[in-house]
Amino acid sequence: MKGRASLTHNPILHLIIFTTIHAYITPSYNQPYLGLCPTWSNSGITFASNSVLSGEPRRLFINTENSIYVSVDADQVLVWSEGSNIVNLNISNNVTGPFGIFATIDGYIYIANSVPNRGVFLWSPNGTNSTKVMPNTRKCSALFIDINNTLYCSCDIENQVLKVSLEPGSQNQTTAAGKKNVNGSTSDLLNSPIGIFVDRNLSLYVADSDNDRIQVFLWNELNGTTIAGTGASATINLKGPSDIVLDGDGYLYIADTGKSRIVASGPNGFRCIIACQVGMGSASYQLHGPFSLSFDTYGNIYISDRSNYRIQKFTFINQSCDNTTPIDSRTTSSTDTVTVSTNSVTSISTSALVLSTSVAVTDATSTMTTTTSPSSSIPTTLVTSFLPTTVSNHVDTSTVQQGTSFASLFTPSVCASPTVMGPNCSLSTLSCDSLRPCYNNATCMNDNTMLSGYTCNCLLGFNDTNCQYDYRPCQPDTCWNNGMCNQTSNTSFICICANGWQGEHCQTKVNYCENITCFNNGVCKTLSQNYTCQCIGDSYFGRHCERTSTIIAIAIVALFIIIMDVSTYVFGIDPVKSVRRELRRRPKYKTKKKEKRFIVIQRPIYVA
Ligand SMILES: *[C@@H]1O[C@H](CO)[C@@H](O)[C@H](O)[C@H]1NC(C)=O
Ligand SMILES: *[C@@H]1O[C@H](CO)[C@@H](O)[C@H](O)[C@H]1NC(C)=O
Ligand SMILES: *[C@@H]1O[C@H](CO)[C@@H](O)[C@H](O)[C@H]1NC(C)=O
Ligand SMILES: *[C@@H]1O[C@H](CO)[C@@H](O)[C@H](O)[C@H]1NC(C)=O
Ligand SMILES: *[C@@H]1O[C@H](CO)[C@@H](O)[C@H](O)[C@H]1NC(C)=O
Ligand SMILES: *[C@@H]1O[C@H](CO)[C@@H](O)[C@H](O)[C@H]1NC(C)=O
Ligand SMILES: *[C@@H]1O[C@H](CO)[C@@H](O)[C@H](O)[C@H]1NC(C)=O
Ligand SMILES: *[C@@H]1O[C@H](CO)[C@@H](O)[C@H](O)[C@H]1NC(C)=O
Ligand SMILES: *[C@@H]1O[C@H](CO)[C@@H](O)[C@H](O)[C@H]1NC(C)=O
Ligand SMILES: *[C@@H]1O[C@H](CO)[C@@H](O)[C@H](O)[C@H]1NC(C)=O
Ligand SMILES: *[C@@H]1O[C@H](CO)[C@@H](O)[C@H](O)[C@H]1NC(C)=O
Ligand SMILES: *[C@@H]1O[C@H](CO)[C@@H](O)[C@H](O)[C@H]1NC(C)=O
Repeated sequence: MKGRASLTHNPILHLIIFTTIHAYITPSYNQPYLGLCPTWSNSGITFASNSVLSGEPRRLFINTENSIYVSVDADQVLVWSEGSNIVNLNISNNVTGPFGIFATIDGYIYIANSVPNRGVFLWSPNGTNSTKVMPNTRKCSALFIDINNTLYCSCDIENQVLKVSLEPGSQNQTTAAGKKNVNGSTSDLLNSPIGIFVDRNLSLYVADSDNDRIQVFLWNELNGTTIAGTGASATINLKGPSDIVLDGDGYLYIADTGKSRIVASGPNGFRCIIACQVGMGSASYQLHGPFSLSFDTYGNIYISDRSNYRIQKFTFINQSCDNTTPIDSRTTSSTDTVTVSTNSVTSISTSALVLSTSVAVTDATSTMTTTTSPSSSIPTTLVTSFLPTTVSNHVDTSTVQQGTSFASLFTPSVCASPTVMGPNCSLSTLSCDSLRPCYNNATCMNDNTMLSGYTCNCLLGFNDTNCQYDYRPCQPDTCWNNGMCNQTSNTSFICICANGWQGEHCQTKVNYCENITCFNNGVCKTLSQNYTCQCIGDSYFGRHCERTSTIIAIAIVALFIIIMDVSTYVFGIDPVKSVRRELRRRPKYKTKKKEKRFIVIQRPIYVA
């Protein structure tokens, strides 16, 4: 806390903090206020079917103008304007295996591709050109932009959520939750994170699908709290949740993918709201693997009903609360619906607000030399900038109280020289020392001619203001499946693949049967690094079923003998007398079964 306070002597930080507080962006997604007893239609309306999608729908996004954005596995992103059933925009050039999508208020579209054209791209509203904005990502299964203009990517295959500020010329990509390539169920780990949501307090909600839970990470914290599913106290059982959305009141809406239903929290705890009765299916009141959900401005819920290859719309019904149980009575409406303490959610939001407060206070105490006491003015500024006026009163009050006590902790110290700061005046205020702004081993130079106060000299392969952009051909995950990356020039690479893998990124398994012909109708099967021919019956053998078994060989010999016998009896010649005797004796040592078959073949000899 003291460290933060003393940083107020740094003019650059003033600038950043000032910008931060005043530059928060208006959300482009919908968080409708739904009242205390919202319900939705039992039956969904198919908004888009497979004939339009021509593939599995993945992520779904609806902006505040009710334009609907859907990423489809058929390498395309489709956009519908409000009220239109016809696709208004079809982005398919350079779109490969799209997952995460997010549209901004001015119609720009972020699309996360997977292989081969990996990365997060920003597309112009007309879908004609794109710019790569998050290069070092494998596959963002979901994207989100918070009100501080920070882009989040949840990477399920790497078990982490990444974030990068979209403010011009700013930060490196960092981890927001989870540990790269480590899965687990402790508070600091994730297991296949999919859907993400960042609320107005900058708390990050993660649908931690393989842990069957929803985690929330307070701003800048790497340890999360389970608020629904496995490990949360008395909520609801989830199976592979893959999306999480918050409404205006901060209640949760979860795509409970494995159970093919949508569940939500409310004043009485968790309950199922859509597709609750009969399990998965393709009827209008059912879902099959719902992967993503989104509100429009009216509170209707659209669902990417992935395994039914359709987008379903469930209409919001503003039900009166008259027939329902009072708020404080604890209810259990279905077997795994249990009452939750809404307190836990509230307290999380509140402490997040306090974190934000520290930033606001730092700014105000240093830049504004007004006589207003911080305790009365600051929390109000904070609340108005971070929260819409409609947020319930108890949150406001607790924020103000905690913010007040927090503000009184600040006692900015004064050092003799303007180039030092800190509790003991031992820290440098020079930008390079205090900010350490250059990444990737770049050299930092203090430079008063720059607004930032420094310049970074990047190593080859890195650029951007802070050298955070890594365009080396060999990235840590350029070559997959333990392939080795060999940089062959400033812009090209070759993957040296491990045994059994091939392709530019070693992404495909070698098909060992590719050029193999198994003879005599044998079937080729791949082994781990080899192949084998499975021969038909017991008549053929050999690596390629090219050899015939002894019975057939003997049959051929027998045929030979017949010819010999015929020539002996008909023409009176016996060229191989001793050989023939030898061969006739041999079958007597065979097994009964084989002898029987042999006799069938032999019979003509004796008849003849
Ligand atoms: C989108 O464009 C792609 C490529 O041109 C095409 O194959 C696909 O059918 C289009 N989809 C729709 C819904 O128009
Ligand atoms: C589109 O192209 C222009 C000019 O080539 C470029 O400045 C811009 O960054 C590109 N991307 C988007 C998303 O507009
Ligand atoms: C599409 O948008 C980009 C950037 O916004 C612009 O440069 C381009 O001219 C537009 N193209 C069309 C066909 O409108
Ligand atoms: C697709 O990618 C190619 C090569 O990277 C690029 O030249 C082209 O402009 C891209 N097209 C769009 C629509 O972004
Ligand atoms: C907002 O983003 C800026 C970078 O643009 C960052 O320095 C700041 O810490 C962020 N603030 C919060 C509260 O996340
Ligand atoms: C910046 O990004 C690089 C990879 O691009 C990473 O190795 C490094 O740890 C990042 N720095 C910070 C401070 O997160
Ligand atoms: C975060 O969680 C990990 C694992 O559960 C634990 O070891 C660590 O102490 C926690 N850190 C904090 C700051 O709570
Ligand atoms: C930066 O330097 C450290 C230590 O010399 C080294 O381990 C690391 O690989 C370097 N990073 C880059 C991106 O060159
Ligand atoms: C960084 O380098 C990449 C690749 O050469 C280039 O596309 C990009 O425009 C550069 N960015 C800056 C800020 O120079
Ligand atoms: C990497 O490529 C260079 C040529 O570009 C070659 O000389 C070198 O042997 C390659 N390294 C490996 C490990 O194959
Ligand atoms: C099959 O033959 C092609 C063409 O000769 C070759 O490129 C490919 O590597 C072969 N596949 C296997 C598995 O040997
Ligand atoms: C594949 O299996 C055959 C027979 O089992 C063996 O002769 C051959 O060496 C194996 N090939 C490889 C690449 O292991």
